[in-house]
Amino acid sequence: MRRSLLSVLVLFTVTVASQTIDDLDSVEAYYDSLDDSGDLDPISISSGSPDTIKFGTPGVGYHTKYGPIGGVQTDKINVEKLAITKVEYTNGILSDELMKSITSLQGRVESIMQKNQNYSVTYTSKKPPNKNPHYYFSLAPYSWPNCKGKLFIKNPWTQCPWSSQDGKINPAGKSLTSGHALTYLIRDGVDLATSFYLFGNSSYEHKFTQLMRTFFINSKTYMVPNMNYSQVVPDGPENDWEGSKMGVLDTHGLLTLLSATELVAQTNGSSWTAKDTYALRSWIDKYRKWMETSVLGKKEGEALNNHGTFYYAQLAGFSQYIGDINGTRQAVNKYLDTIYDGQIKADGSQPLELKRQFSLHYSYYNLEALGSMAKYAQSVGMDIWNVANSHNATYQTAVNFLIKNTLSTKNSENPANFLPMLETSANVYGDTSKYNYTSAISTIRDQTAGGDLGAVWLLWTRQ
Ligand SMILES: *[C@@H]1O[C@H](CO)[C@@H](O)[C@H](O)[C@H]1NC(C)=O
Ligand SMILES: *[C@@H]1O[C@H](CO)[C@@H](O)[C@H](O)[C@H]1NC(C)=O
Ligand SMILES: *[C@@H]1O[C@H](CO)[C@@H](O)[C@H](O)[C@H]1NC(C)=O
Ligand SMILES: *[C@@H]1O[C@H](CO)[C@@H](O)[C@H](O)[C@H]1NC(C)=O
Ligand SMILES: *[C@@H]1O[C@H](CO)[C@@H](O)[C@H](O)[C@H]1NC(C)=O
Ligand SMILES: *[C@@H]1O[C@H](CO)[C@@H](O)[C@H](O)[C@H]1NC(C)=O
Ligand SMILES: *[C@@H]1O[C@H](CO)[C@@H](O)[C@H](O)[C@H]1NC(C)=O
Repeated sequence: MRRSLLSVLVLFTVTVASQTIDDLDSVEAYYDSLDDSGDLDPISISSGSPDTIKFGTPGVGYHTKYGPIGGVQTDKINVEKLAITKVEYTNGILSDELMKSITSLQGRVESIMQKNQNYSVTYTSKKPPNKNPHYYFSLAPYSWPNCKGKLFIKNPWTQCPWSSQDGKINPAGKSLTSGHALTYLIRDGVDLATSFYLFGNSSYEHKFTQLMRTFFINSKTYMVPNMNYSQVVPDGPENDWEGSKMGVLDTHGLLTLLSATELVAQTNGSSWTAKDTYALRSWIDKYRKWMETSVLGKKEGEALNNHGTFYYAQLAGFSQYIGDINGTRQAVNKYLDTIYDGQIKADGSQPLELKRQFSLHYSYYNLEALGSMAKYAQSVGMDIWNVANSHNATYQTAVNFLIKNTLSTKNSENPANFLPMLETSANVYGDTSKYNYTSAISTIRDQTAGGDLGAVWLLWTRQ
């Protein structure tokens, strides 16, 4: 058994330059950029010729372009705002800017319907270390084998020590298709749910239901609700490989997907049933239990930086989805009582993110988690937008700090990644002459060929 996986891995050859996360517009762009064989096709992956996976050498971080940003945001859909969008769209009075999101959404959904794919962690020829195809299996994105000074290496996966090089994505991760499947599930699921809500075509609900059943529920294709083999660092014999605590982060996009699922459920369509809701809630309940009781999950919960924030944001959102309002409150309070203080200083800087290779990228990212947590908190009657930590700092203080740095000409990271936080701030706090979020948004849109125009989340984060 162990041999067969090894022999697959040994076939991998070595080339291709590395990419840094900041070269890319989004997680999807990352997968797209690695996807030379086109879209995920379960049949060719399981029966085709051996996949060739290429190692590069971790390069120096560089910036290629300031692109617009796309789909998956850890978020909670604001149904009231989406309803306004629907009314304006239906009456032909939607703004040109939001019309771009509608047009772009319609194009994507048409393509989803035409391709008619399903996604599942089981659609892979590379089984996880325990050989059970129902487990999510991914490579730690910044992990690299160090074969320097070693001779006669046949298989860098198992013969070289591995270590992390912050910000440098290893393209070999492409060979493990779970991340790809989950990312595409979330992207397509959110697009389909939003389209069903806005345009009322039941084909979209039908496809949404197929995608969800295939990934979570169907007995042949479901994913086991844990991340035991997420962000594996492949050191030593492959049946000893373990996931890392950071792998818990990989599920953060589920928040938006669950929110999209609630949107579908409340339209009382004909495909997504109460039974499906029950099954998905059970899945989430089990996954939440794994997050709270497994070694990896508990360790991730102790992380002080964005990993900890995403951990508590997920617990808050998952608890809300399964109807455990107290669970949401507990998660939010635990975050506020433990790591919030160390994350934002009085001047609004986020020291734990600023020390990363891509410091602004990670500063935005932590606020993505905090912002989504605040939205889930709000849904159970807690307002944490203005709760200050012991340095008298809030989400807003952190956003204000980043405006200056994002607009600085010294910034080499994609400023479009900051737009969701600016949109949120404009909504929650409003513009002032000192901190004019609306004005910062238009500056960044100008710099980035549209920035967030076309993105689906703009339809419910609009002002
Ligand atoms: C609904 O979507 C399907 C699939 O894209 C399409 O074939 C059909 O014509 C649409 N129906 C309406 C009423 O627009
Ligand atoms: C997708 O999955 C559903 C079951 O959830 C199945 O009925 C359908 O045939 C599948 N479609 C494709 C294209 O595999
Ligand atoms: C996940 O891994 C842990 C060890 O890290 C193990 O105890 C547990 O049984 C595994 N869970 C499942 C469902 O495989
Ligand atoms: C869906 O059904 C629920 C419960 O029967 C009802 O409260 C709700 O108004 C319905 N929603 C729509 C959009 O018809
Ligand atoms: C939720 O919390 C409230 C207040 O702390 C408490 O009264 C209630 O019993 C809790 N409910 C559950 C189901 O634990
Ligand atoms: C805390 O911050 C708020 C808003 O930035 C400010 O109005 C207030 O004066 C500050 N309080 C202290 C004690 O510094
Ligand atoms: C914010 O900037 C816009 C121009 O981008 C301006 O129209 C608006 O009045 C400003 N708002 C405030 C409160 O200063």
